[in-house]
Amino acid sequence: MLRQSRRDDIRAMHRVRMAVTENPFLSTSLSESDYWRATESDGRGWVIESDGKIVAFTVGKATDGNIWALFVQPGYEGLGLGRELLDTMVTWLWAQGLELLWLNTSPNTRAAQFYEQAGWSKSPLPDLGELRYELRRHPP
Ligand SMILES: CC(C)(COP(=O)(O)OP(=O)(O)OC[C@H]1O[C@@H](n2cnc3c(N)ncnc32)[C@H](O)[C@@H]1OP(=O)(O)O)[C@@H](O)C(=O)NCCC(=O)NCCS
Repeated sequence: MLRQSRRDDIRAMHRVRMAVTENPFLSTSLSESDYWRATESDGRGWVIESDGKIVAFTVGKATDGNIWALFVQPGYEGLGLGRELLDTMVTWLWAQGLELLWLNTSPNTRAAQFYEQAGWSKSPLPDLGELRYELRRHPP
């Protein structure tokens, strides 16, 4: 079941964030308040629950069109959850009036193929060893 995230989901969202093996969590500086800001002030979050447990989530920022997070718990990949979250997020970001969306991800991952399959383009400008993907509302 897909629904908008709440403040009391943050621990479960971060558990999913920590559980993935590709694009692993490397920063030491992500706090609950970073999630609050991203989901309540700068943007919005959605979660997907299975048997009452959060198994996937996304967070995106209306301030700059960045998809800040999109993660599926190991064991739940390939079921369409990532695509459902991405479609929801992209629809919402376009409704905020953005023209360009972007995100970073690691090379040679499922995520890179996932975004390409969804119509995103790889930017020629890599960002600190990560790939940058972009989606234009009105492609040229
Ligand atoms: C990348 C990720 C978000 C994809 O979510 P998912 O729920 O597994 O993907 P979906 O089941 O929604 O797949 C959607 C489409 O992506 C494509 N896709 C997914 N995995 C793929 C793979 N390994 N190879 C090629 N295409 C793939 C498929 O075309 C699929 O469409 P289809 O169902 O019509 O075949 C998820 O696997 C994940 O969280 N990975 C680990 C963390 C991560 O890298 N997150 C992204 C950080 S930017």
